Amino acid sequence: MTQSARQREGFKTPSETPNPRLHPRMLCRSVRELLAMKIYIDGKYFDERNAKISVFDHGLLYGDGIFEGIRAYNSRVFKLKEHIDRLFYSAKAILLTIPMSHAEVMAAVVETCRQNKLRDGYIRLVVTRGVGGLGLNPNRCKKPSVIVIADKIQLYPPEYYERGLEIITVPTVRNLHSALNPAIKSLNYLNNILAKIEANNGGCEEAIMLNAEGFVSECTGDNVFIIKNGEIFTPPLYAGALYGITRSVVIEMARENSISVSEPNLTRYDLFNADECFLTGTGAELIPVVKIDGRTIGTGKPGPITNSLVAKYKALTRVSGEPIFP
Ligand SMILES: Cc1ncc(COP(=O)(O)O)c(C=O)c1O
Repeated sequence: MTQSARQREGFKTPSETPNPRLHPRMLCRSVRELLAMKIYIDGKYFDERNAKISVFDHGLLYGDGIFEGIRAYNSRVFKLKEHIDRLFYSAKAILLTIPMSHAEVMAAVVETCRQNKLRDGYIRLVVTRGVGGLGLNPNRCKKPSVIVIADKIQLYPPEYYERGLEIITVPTVRNLHSALNPAIKSLNYLNNILAKIEANNGGCEEAIMLNAEGFVSECTGDNVFIIKNGEIFTPPLYAGALYGITRSVVIEMARENSISVSEPNLTRYDLFNADECFLTGTGAELIPVVKIDGRTIGTGKPGPITNSLVAKYKALTRVSGEPIFP
């Protein structure tokens, strides 16, 4: 991970303190420019410190826009087409016309990875409503802006992938479909952020969010799965979950291995009495959960089906995706 990425992720362990001899301020300007991350904005590449958008962009003023989080593994962009499809679905839902074709957005993502020599990392693709007035009206925004950042991400400390996470249910309820449909991956993530704050206040890294009916919906940035008697269960999308791309991959992998997967409404009781539990997301990948609201899940250790799916997911990501350096 780069120094700036580590700082953004809040890692401050002594081993990660940058060598003072390599401090960027001491590097000459041309070397700094060479090393700087290149960020794509509306067809051009800018160095990290010059990559700026207007304070009048409605993405900033109102969270009016959409995004995708995508991963690159082993010089390939994983499930790129699926992410771009979902971006266009989100755009349609909020009546935002992306000023590029599907193929052009895909090419911009791959080219930004190439510009940054990114072989393994995380890509943030953002489309804002664009520059407008101080009023809400999106029709006053001239043109949406497309931004691609190719960087690194580490959502949870590595030991949690070994030992499993402890998570809690939080009071903030998942957005109603009739208010802001959770299927829209919008720039307005306050619903999730409030839940994350509540999880952190409760000493946990992640939160289970329930919908207004009290059924399990998802976590703040991940879908949730449980395993009971050898079968996999995950909340249905109508329970208020994002149409997770990792979720789909896991369902497909499980079925290919003759493991039954169903999508019934789940309650906290179902989670507490599961044999295994894990979360899925592009950022989080697959992460086991071993405690929920103080109840130990199964043996309290990542279970065998979870472990085998983690191994299969890792293997798949090594070999599948859009090549960055063809
Ligand atoms: C709210 C929410 N749920 C679930 C997910 C997992 O979705 P995916 O696997 O497509 O990354 C994400 C991440 O994008 C998310 O933000």
